[in-house]
This record gives sequence, C-alpha cells and structure tokens, in this order.
Amino acid sequence: MADLDDIRDGREYGVGVAQRTDGFFLKGSNNLDWGMKDRLSRIFNPATGRTVMLAFDHGFIMGPTSGVERIDLNIVPLIEYADCLMCARGVLRALVPPTCRKPVCLRSDAGTSILTELNHNVVIDIQDAVKLNASAIAVMVSVGDAATEAETVANLYQAVDAGQASGIPVMGVTAVGKDMARDARYFGLASRLCAENGANIVKTYYTEGFEKVVACCPVPIVIAGGKKLPELEALDLAYRAIQSGASGVDMGRNVFQSEKPAAMIQAVGAVVHQGLKPA
Ligand code: 5RP
Repeated sequence: MADLDDIRDGREYGVGVAQRTDGFFLKGSNNLDWGMKDRLSRIFNPATGRTVMLAFDHGFIMGPTSGVERIDLNIVPLIEYADCLMCARGVLRALVPPTCRKPVCLRSDAGTSILTELNHNVVIDIQDAVKLNASAIAVMVSVGDAATEAETVANLYQAVDAGQASGIPVMGVTAVGKDMARDARYFGLASRLCAENGANIVKTYYTEGFEKVVACCPVPIVIAGGKKLPELEALDLAYRAIQSGASGVDMGRNVFQSEKPAAMIQAVGAVVHQGLKPA
C-alpha cells in the first residue's frame, strides 16, 4: 500500500537551468529509439565509442574449422576480454554461458554452406532474437554477386523492418562478391548500400583508402579480421582501420587461431580502445 500521508511537495525544480539533452555518442544513431541506443551502448563502449566483437559464427557455413572445434574450450575462455559476442543461435544456446553478461550480435541469416554456393540465405524470426536477448542481429549482404545480391539485400531489408519493430539494431555484413576487387570503391559501395537500407552497423574489410569508406558510410563500421595473419600484421590491420575511422573490429580467426588467443584479443583491445600502435 502506497503511503498517503507525508507526501512532500517538490522544491528543487531547477527553474532557469536548461535541461541537459545529450547527443548520442555513435555516428548516425542520434535519432534512434531508447531501446536501440541502449543495445548499441552495450556493444560499443560509450567511453571510447568503439568495440571489440569476438566473431565465432564461422561454423554455420564452414563447420568445425580450426579454432572453433570446441567452443567450450576455445572460445569461452576468451569471452571475458570481448565487448560483444557474435555467433549463431545454436552455439549460443548450447555453449555460451548465459551468466557471461556480454551483449550478443546474433548471426541471423542461414542457408547455404561452403559446400555449395554461399549466401542463398533466409532470415530467422526476430522473435528468436528477442528471446535470446540479442543486442543486435547480423545479416550477410553480397553486393556485386549476381546470384545472391537481390535476395541478400531483401534479407537485410526484412531484418531492418523486424529489428526496428523490436528495438534491435541490425549489422549488415558485406560478403565480397566473387568477381569484386577488394578496394575502397567496392567496400565504399557495399557499406553505403547496407547503411542506405537501414543497417545500424556495417561490418566490412579494411583496404587502402579506408578513410573514404568510413567517411561516406553514415553509421559505424567495424572490420572483419579475415584469414589468419601473423599477429603483428593483424594488429596493424586493426590499428590502420581505427586510425581511418573504424569504430572497432569484429574479429574471429586472427584471435581464435592465434597461438595465444587470450593475449591476442587483449592486444586487439588495446589497439581499439587505447589507440596503441603495434610494434
Ligand atoms: C562471416 C563473418 C565472420 O564472423 C567474419 O568474417 C569475422 O571473422 P574473421 O575475423 O575470421 O573474418 O561474418 O560471415
């Protein structure tokens, strides 16, 4: 029962003091709803505006590739060092401890594997992302691939509609079309296309001239690590991406295929959040 006696009149109205109305720290996100901003603030550290996402969704197209054979042994020990986890729902439910308190960017399209032709995908029901408390959903877009471009752009569109309705941001993941040059012109086009279709985050690849890719993309960009490189080269890749304006990394193989994955993800974190230059 609410107390009905001793209801005190308010006194501190701050009359004459303008209400503080902060802008939101992430590029292109100021006009989003509260739930979207809350979820984005779990993925991107508001203190730095950046994120280290740990990607281990590879099994959904590649099967048990090196470093993700045993998520419990290879990946779970790395979770504490990541800002966000990116994986598919089967692995999330089966192997990621719900007690880890990390935001999840849920891989939300599925279809073909490396054994056939990639990217003939459909999008999972947004209700499952809601049930899994996803902080974002990720959908692949294969710009420039005649066989799958239209259906993957449609997937993105559908994911954005569903994400908007539930307050869940969408990450557009640029898959490089088969005959595409991996240059700033291509990644600039692919990233912009994702953002124009409503992606709240874009994941793409670093290339020379990346500052132009970032400049013309109205939402934050994170870079994939790509194939395993020597550690110093992978850190340098992250450094150059951050210096060019990227808002973080979504890295997989260069972390979990490293000889020292825990040290590697912490080094990536120092590059991303502190701007340290690898040497
Ligand atoms: C593939 C993905 C992967 O998660 C992505 O490529 C990141 O992993 P890596 O750093 O190993 O490239 O989105 O669809």
